[in-house]
Amino acid sequence: MDTLEALRSRRAVKHYDASHVMSEAEQRELLELALLSPTAFNLQHWRFVVVEEPALRREIRTLAWDQAQVTDASLLVVLCADLASWQKQAARVWADAPQAARDFLVPAIDAYYRDAPQVQRDEAMRSCGIAAQSLMLAARGMGYDSCPMDGFDFDKVAELINLPSDHCISLMLAIGKAAIPAQPRIGKLPFDEVVIRNRF
Ligand SMILES: Cc1cc2nc3c(=O)[nH]c(=O)nc-3n(C[C@H](O)[C@H](O)[C@H](O)COP(=O)(O)O)c2cc1C
Repeated sequence: MDTLEALRSRRAVKHYDASHVMSEAEQRELLELALLSPTAFNLQHWRFVVVEEPALRREIRTLAWDQAQVTDASLLVVLCADLASWQKQAARVWADAPQAARDFLVPAIDAYYRDAPQVQRDEAMRSCGIAAQSLMLAARGMGYDSCPMDGFDFDKVAELINLPSDHCISLMLAIGKAAIPAQPRIGKLPFDEVVIRNRF
């Protein structure tokens, strides 16, 4: 499937074939493709929690308005982010850059994020949002469907997955074989209302 077709055919699918198993190799390929997504300063804020244990899936489902995709999808990923990536990873991810680039970037990253919790969080959310779209499109390319989700109790899911205190949850993604296709698309806002030329 080409990229345009993946974009056109991606829908938020709610009902999955619970008997389908995604192989380890497919899971790995999907997640590795997501890791190719861009992040500001290459900080790779994301952490992908793959929820494998059926009992944990069931617990999360009770915290997610009993949405069936949580237990029935082949893969359930909680997309989390390390809010302190700017501090922990800057030197590491730029270690192989030319010295001049490293000497400029590492202090610049510090200056950009230090004492700026809103920027740290915004950046984490951007990274996870882009990674989520990569996962959804890669899933289409591999013959899977997906559903992005924020309909769950973030604090309680955080507790269940032992989320570190300097991390946040961005969203969840269910990925699997559709059992019931999505309804036809509805309610798209008009192109000319959402595309603004030059200025509002
Ligand atoms: C951040 C985010 C959170 C969402 N949360 C849920 C959810 O909890 N449950 C659900 O069934 N769909 C959820 N959706 C799917 C949207 O309802 C869906 O994307 C939207 O209605 C447009 O439909 P489409 O994706 O099929 O084009 C979510 C989508 C996004 C991007």
